Amino acid sequence: MCRTKGYHRSIRGETIIINGVRLMSEDRQQSLIELMSETNFTPFQRDNSKPIPEEIDTEKKLARLKEDALSCTRCALRKGCRQVVFGEGNPNAHLMMVGEGPGSDEDRLGMPFVGRAGQLLDRILEAAQIKRQEIYITNVVKCRPTGNRLPLQPEVDSCLCFLQEQIKIINPEIVICLGALATRTLIDKDASITRSRGNWYKFGTRLYMATFHPAALLRDPGKKKYVWEDFKQIVKVCNSDDNGGQGQ
Ligand code: URA
Repeated sequence: MCRTKGYHRSIRGETIIINGVRLMSEDRQQSLIELMSETNFTPFQRDNSKPIPEEIDTEKKLARLKEDALSCTRCALRKGCRQVVFGEGNPNAHLMMVGEGPGSDEDRLGMPFVGRAGQLLDRILEAAQIKRQEIYITNVVKCRPTGNRLPLQPEVDSCLCFLQEQIKIINPEIVICLGALATRTLIDKDASITRSRGNWYKFGTRLYMATFHPAALLRDPGKKKYVWEDFKQIVKVCNSDDNGGQGQ
């Protein structure tokens, strides 16, 4: 997807940068694979008595994954929340946004990013002329941690199969990590959000970018200018010819 205008390549440490896009070196990719195996990551186990026929479309696959998530008891979060907030949006989205986990409004309404942080995200999307219904929005964990605490690593590990499967089914070209948790879960376990935001990371054919979580902007409005810089880049890549112009 990402168009290459004048090929520019440089190597910094273990990251190769081509036209501003960071590509993971093989060593880095290998270390991420090792990380997955170290963190008790269990690939999503589907009931083999109900195989998904090849021809079934994305929407149906996503609906079946949602059913699985709704009945999940892999961690204790489900007991403490009202409902599972699976995610919502266009099952064929080119652009996906991943937050941390549902807050109290999301837990009550069953939809991601509908509280104060969600309303700010809506304003950012509107300013960037990205239609919310054209993208897909979800969270690292699908159940609200009690008292809005950060999800614990074992909870993230238990839920990761759903997020990974969502990414696989929707197959977006671009994934935006909103905040540190999504960034550490999807880009680099040691990432600092301040240092990694605004950079493109490429895994396979997919581009990832981290930016500050809207809740961080509510706490510190001074961060808004950085998020706006990031969204300008996102819109530029979304609107490149190869991506079908999504984001307009
Ligand atoms: N914060 C998140 O990370 N996700 C939501 O859905 C709402 C607030």
